[in-house]
Amino acid sequence: MGDVISKQSAKPLVGRLVVVGLGLIGGSFAKGLRESGLCVEVVGVDLNAASRALAVELGVVDRCEADLAVACRGADVIQLAVPILAMEKMLAQLAGMDLGQAILTDVGSAKGNIVRAATQAFGSMPPRFVPGHPIAGSEQSGVEASNARLFERHKVILTPVADTDPGALKVVDAMWRALGAEVEHMQVERHDEVLAATSHLPHLLAFGLVDSLAKRNENLDIFRYAAGGFRDFTRIAGSDPVMWHDIFLANREAVLRTLDTFRTDLDALRDAVDAGDGHQLLGVFTRARVAREHFGKILARRAYVDPMNTNDLIFLANPGGHATGRIRVPGDKSISHRSIMLGSLAEGTTEVEGFLEGEDALATLQAFRDMGVVIEGPHQGRVTIHGVGLHGLKAPPGPIYLGNSGTSMRLLSGLLAAQPFDTTLTGDASLTKRPMNRVANPLREMGAVIETAAEGRPPMMIRGGHALKGMNYTLPMASAQVKSCLLLAGLYAEGKTSVTEPAPTRDHTERMLRGFGYPVTVNGATASVESGHKLTATHIEVPGDISSSAFFLVAASIAEGSDLVLEHVGINPTRTGVIDILRLMGADITLENLREVGGEPVADLHVRAAKLKGIDIPQALVPLAIDEFPVLFVAAAVAEGRTVLRGAEELRVKESDRIQVMADGLQALGVKCETTPDGIIIDGGAIGGGEVHGHGDHRISMAFSVASLRATAPIRIHDCANVATSFPNFLALCKQVGMNVAEEAQS
Ligand code: S3P
Repeated sequence: MGDVISKQSAKPLVGRLVVVGLGLIGGSFAKGLRESGLCVEVVGVDLNAASRALAVELGVVDRCEADLAVACRGADVIQLAVPILAMEKMLAQLAGMDLGQAILTDVGSAKGNIVRAATQAFGSMPPRFVPGHPIAGSEQSGVEASNARLFERHKVILTPVADTDPGALKVVDAMWRALGAEVEHMQVERHDEVLAATSHLPHLLAFGLVDSLAKRNENLDIFRYAAGGFRDFTRIAGSDPVMWHDIFLANREAVLRTLDTFRTDLDALRDAVDAGDGHQLLGVFTRARVAREHFGKILARRAYVDPMNTNDLIFLANPGGHATGRIRVPGDKSISHRSIMLGSLAEGTTEVEGFLEGEDALATLQAFRDMGVVIEGPHQGRVTIHGVGLHGLKAPPGPIYLGNSGTSMRLLSGLLAAQPFDTTLTGDASLTKRPMNRVANPLREMGAVIETAAEGRPPMMIRGGHALKGMNYTLPMASAQVKSCLLLAGLYAEGKTSVTEPAPTRDHTERMLRGFGYPVTVNGATASVESGHKLTATHIEVPGDISSSAFFLVAASIAEGSDLVLEHVGINPTRTGVIDILRLMGADITLENLREVGGEPVADLHVRAAKLKGIDIPQALVPLAIDEFPVLFVAAAVAEGRTVLRGAEELRVKESDRIQVMADGLQALGVKCETTPDGIIIDGGAIGGGEVHGHGDHRISMAFSVASLRATAPIRIHDCANVATSFPNFLALCKQVGMNVAEEAQS
């Protein structure tokens, strides 16, 4: 995986490759390509005679030249791997030669400067010059450090300009890929900005800090007391001073911009220390910590990115398990989202317990951090929110990224429509396909100014500073997200905002608003709020998520001999459709230890294996079980007889088209089923083994994991990474109860 193509397997792409400058980067490029067999001949150029001899001896190149013109004669590709400030002279020399159709490329860490130098030397930017920058290196240097695998799984950024020849770009791209690199194309300016911020500024700070401390203490004695923090922060001050001197001179403008921004931020930190402003410090530190953790995850993910650039997390689910014992599933996703939103808008400090540390709820949490709310945690489900009041949010520094989370986007759009600042809401590929006009249109009727991409898809651009007016709105579909969005907008709208729903949907927003002391009236199917009140901080205990419990309710029902207790599960009557449906199918589920926690009913669910039968699912239960259908389809697939679902067209616009995607998967496993525009008909029977796809939809991946309990052979489930959006410890709990589901080992 990711290995350099072996000499035998590759067909030469390039006749003669000339690499000018045989340091670590140039030498590694030459050696890797020579070993790949992609070039007929690899010629090196270096000023240093010893390096030239060593390069041949170590097999880095086929031959070496001291003279540039001699080396470049008949070249097909010329790689310039010389120090960045030597480039100008080098390009001037090359401009005087007849290079024929040779492709030029380079490895410099600042691109604007190189494009300028090339334009000056050649009169205009040569179309066959492809500027490049491998983001790789090591503490070692010189040709003796050449490593054919140096670029494997490292990013290489190519920065073609408008006139760059596509053919030349393709060749350079292919060469880097042959070395196992992940190639990206970027604009010159963007590259220089990004590198100035993520590489050049940290080096400047490390060099600067060490020098500043060292020169104050001539005998360098203080370093005796420096511990890990100093060592980690300053490691890069050990880098090559000449190379870095070159880089700062070459990338001057971009470095200055990022440095000036940083100076402002540093001054703000200084002022906070000076003023004893702990709140400000905590805000910076908590935001920085999550950003750093996020970065850590990106780095960890790189470890299993394969050369095809896929990121397919596969669950292997083996038959023969059962579901027995006592478990506690993570906190309710809907309630977790709302706890952050209302806690942020409240006055005072809200403590949350049982918060779901899944990616969706964390996306909401990060959004409020981006808008200036100081939020501590989550730490083992505990979150402390320093509320800013209904009018205390600040403009975020950029677009708010909400990952896979439709709830975040829909609910946030309501309260952002009423803020004085503009916001843009974006998300991942799945969220970008989901309909947002269901919230944008009624918000517009209230006076909001919102733009979306084509057909009402994200991103959503929400303009600030537009006053909202309350209204009476009848929902065209049973959607708690739309209802909640409008009630949140109603907190800011002039007068009264009333939302009438066609069928009951989850009412966590209404309950929690009241928990924060905000009056909500509910009259039959209509919930109303009026502006002019405030939210007062409170304590929230998030119960276990019945939607996550559903996987284990079905698992224990269908796996012979199972006997499972799910502790502390939220059983809000607007969410318990799954229990009602399973009981109608013959499931043995009892509710024990009923109690109320923070305005939400909670119970322990006791479930034992039972013989299930197919049913016509009552339509009134559909909105009350809307998230549980993927796993209910699995129950139907093993039940005796036919199960029919109607009136569930909403399933087609969830994280995936859950009707189609489940039907495809069930059919792949040999189950007889047929889709209808608003539902599915499933004939229960046996489930076979095979390959199915999660389609990036957490609930699909988990449903097929449960299916394995009754399968006749293993089920491999592709695209399971998004299980982490709602149920990060799903596999651990499967193992605990006796199910055989695990991540497939990466080869
Ligand atoms: C949710 C409402 C439901 C549900 C989603 C969470 C909420 O969506 O599917 O997972 O927290 O309000 P709709 O309102 O689109 O039905």
